[in-house]
Amino acid sequence: MLLAVLLLLLLPLSDPRSAHGHPLYMRLPPSTLQALSAQGTKVLQAAQRSALWAVNRVAMELQHRLHECRGSGPGRPSPQGPLLQDPPEPGPCGERPPGTVNVTRAHGRIVGGSAAPPGAWPWLVRLLLGGQPLCGGVLVAASWVLTAAHCFAGAPNELLWTVTLAEGSRGEQAEEVPVNRILPHPKFDPRTFHNDLALVQLWTPVSRAGAARPVCLPQRPREPPTGTACAIAGWGALFEDGPEAEAVREARVPLLSADTCRRALGPGLRPSSMLCAGYLAGGIDSCQGDSGGPLTCSETGPRPREVLYGVTSWGDGCGEPGKPGVYTRVAVFKDWLQEQMSAAPSSREPSCRELLAWDPPEEPLAAAATPCAFYAHLCPGPPGACARLAHQQCLQRRRRCGHCARWPTPCSSCCGAPRSCSARPRPHPCTAERRPEQRGEANGCPGLEPLRQKLATLQGTHAWILQVPPEHLAMDFHEVLADLGSKTLTGLFRAWVRAGLGGRHVVFGGLVGLEQATLARSLPRLLVQALQAFRLAALEKAEPQGPQIGARQERGLGRTGHHPLSPQVPPARP
Ligand code: ARG
Repeated sequence: MLLAVLLLLLLPLSDPRSAHGHPLYMRLPPSTLQALSAQGTKVLQAAQRSALWAVNRVAMELQHRLHECRGSGPGRPSPQGPLLQDPPEPGPCGERPPGTVNVTRAHGRIVGGSAAPPGAWPWLVRLLLGGQPLCGGVLVAASWVLTAAHCFAGAPNELLWTVTLAEGSRGEQAEEVPVNRILPHPKFDPRTFHNDLALVQLWTPVSRAGAARPVCLPQRPREPPTGTACAIAGWGALFEDGPEAEAVREARVPLLSADTCRRALGPGLRPSSMLCAGYLAGGIDSCQGDSGGPLTCSETGPRPREVLYGVTSWGDGCGEPGKPGVYTRVAVFKDWLQEQMSAAPSSREPSCRELLAWDPPEEPLAAAATPCAFYAHLCPGPPGACARLAHQQCLQRRRRCGHCARWPTPCSSCCGAPRSCSARPRPHPCTAERRPEQRGEANGCPGLEPLRQKLATLQGTHAWILQVPPEHLAMDFHEVLADLGSKTLTGLFRAWVRAGLGGRHVVFGGLVGLEQATLARSLPRLLVQALQAFRLAALEKAEPQGPQIGARQERGLGRTGHHPLSPQVPPARP
């Protein structure tokens, strides 16, 4: 649409060359070339995103497979150290930077705490809805944040959320990462706040280079004994209905027994999934805005570590006498957490963010490498029909996701977090014979080798676009030269196109319209042809002895005779 509007401005075309008074060919004007280049750059970016997506997905599946084999193979030791991690691992868990540890005193004021030194809580993150901070959260693995499910009430659409990671101990700027997926606990009850826990998957894992580090998750379903002084932290209100803190605040609060909690807070407190902590005298507590943040207890030993036992959930006022704060018991959700974080990517419905980052082809592809693979698992019927159906279903969801990208969301039901599945997809007639696990074993890890091969193949086929650094990812249409004597029945003219990508130049033949409507119709196809030409040129360079696949490139415009046109290119959407 945008392209059509641009074209209106750009016509009429310029520069007809003539012989004996008859025009022979015509160059598209620079303004049209510019519009074409801008569209081409978008197409390139989309192609790079979807290549990255496809490669990452298989790489993650491979990691997952390896992890499963290492963890569960006969006679293999179970993984040491922190229970839950996902690749790439940002480092050991629960360690605080030196110099930030002894600061938490049980006095003053989160309500009643004190300002935390920069970087004191490397796992403390902030959840932002439409750019506005709403809740705290806790980094528990390289790409997973644990928070309270009630934070997403009314806004379950992941496209609207971002996460600000922890700042460094020298006050280094905190990084903001988009949310890829929100997994509220399936039994969260918004009326009672039972099971008030949600996992948030980051769009990109945190890197070791930054300041953010994951906290440790409990290894046992029990908390430390009553009276243990644990820590809370967050940007929440300084007192009830008061302003939010400008910087992170922290406080020490003792764990209270289930009996004390129930007596203090009544039947609303469910000890099976909630614990309470704080002072019956009041004065020190978490408050509004601290939700989703951590309640951690130190584990002493040669390497002291902080372990996450609670996630800030609710309270009766803030810091009121007799009303300690309530925290979701993390330890009892250990299995759910592990299951969610280690689930194979293909076992989940693709998130809106994944679908929108993907440039779908018109026709179903070999579905395994696309976000649509999930739907093929669900589809009953013969593989051909299944692939088509899965593709349609997937595109439909992608369209719905497009509506959901706006704020406020048109409706919450269609923009909700995607269904999560059990860790292992069900075997299915559509996919049964294609499942990699059933094709050979490597080093006692079934299915590993086919995945490795798949990854290598994908890396090979996408290398041409993955190797282009983002700053060079621009398509430049230098020249489109239409042969005026070659009008086809559909009103298009043969044309030679010269374009550049990074330092590489290609020339290819195509069809171009010279009136507004025909030009608009012809451009998408030219863009796809340009993309193909770059791919072939890159392959030709990588395999100079190989087959003549790149024969149409790098020939220059000075050739005589008609350039062969490539009729089999599928139409692209701009
Ligand atoms: N529900 C609050 C939030 O959404 C957290 C309240 C904690 N209250 C307390 N008294 N400890 O931020």
